[in-house]
Amino acid sequence: IKKKSAASLRKMKDQSEKITMITCYDGAFASLMNQTDIDAVLVGDSMGNVVLGFDDTIPVTMDMMVHHTAAVSRILQGPLLIADMPFMSYNISVEQALENASRLVQEGGAQAVKLEGGEEILPQVKAITNAGIPVVGHLGLTPQKIHALGGYRVQGRGDEGVRLSEDAKLLEEAGCFALVLELVPDELAKSVTASLQIPTIGIGAGAGTSGQVLVLHDLLGFNDDFKPKFLKTYANLGQIIRNALQEYVSDVKGGSFPAEEHTFKK
Ligand code: KIV
Ligand code: NA
Repeated sequence: IKKKSAASLRKMKDQSEKITMITCYDGAFASLMNQTDIDAVLVGDSMGNVVLGFDDTIPVTMDMMVHHTAAVSRILQGPLLIADMPFMSYNISVEQALENASRLVQEGGAQAVKLEGGEEILPQVKAITNAGIPVVGHLGLTPQKIHALGGYRVQGRGDEGVRLSEDAKLLEEAGCFALVLELVPDELAKSVTASLQIPTIGIGAGAGTSGQVLVLHDLLGFNDDFKPKFLKTYANLGQIIRNALQEYVSDVKGGSFPAEEHTFKK
């Protein structure tokens, strides 16, 4: 199996091949990822909401990220493995950012890390890149700033777009090899993509980016109530899993499981 790298994604942009990324938080799903053509896997801090039961990504710690990244990396083969740096794990100092980025690579087995923010994190992006750890940027809706942003809504409309474009350029200059654009108008995402050498990966950013990322459980339809405009669900696993679990309960209660064929004899 040929392992994808940061350079592979850059090459895909040059060749106008769309990049596909999906989040993943454990080994069971990583093993299914191996049997697909997915280009990159992100151990996102969306793990906080999606599998750890938190309301947002703020409570996610470095230990949690390392733990789940390691689970994915033990199984994942071909796709590039990127891990999110969680809330406040890189904002305090360059030294702190370096220490934590290196944990995700050394203990977690990540090939690259992702940080949210623009101009304010350039020293961290430069230092991590210089240390030999490829960095993905993340602009637009940055969920770690949810309390400052006041809600999960589209970013970069009007004048805000200029600032976002400038931040994108600065992140590229600082060494990012890719940039996630979350919840921004498609025109802005398209113009940012055209202005950069590095690929952009969109979520709720329209079709003009170099690639797309979705949250695994969202695209699989785990939660019937979560249907934001930008999401396409590719399966109704919530329904399928619920039915299977309920059928098991009914079988046991009704005495039809275990049957003869599931039973050992002396
Ligand atoms: O944590 C996450 O899932 C992400 C993606 C939505 C880009 O950061
Ligand atoms: Na994230």
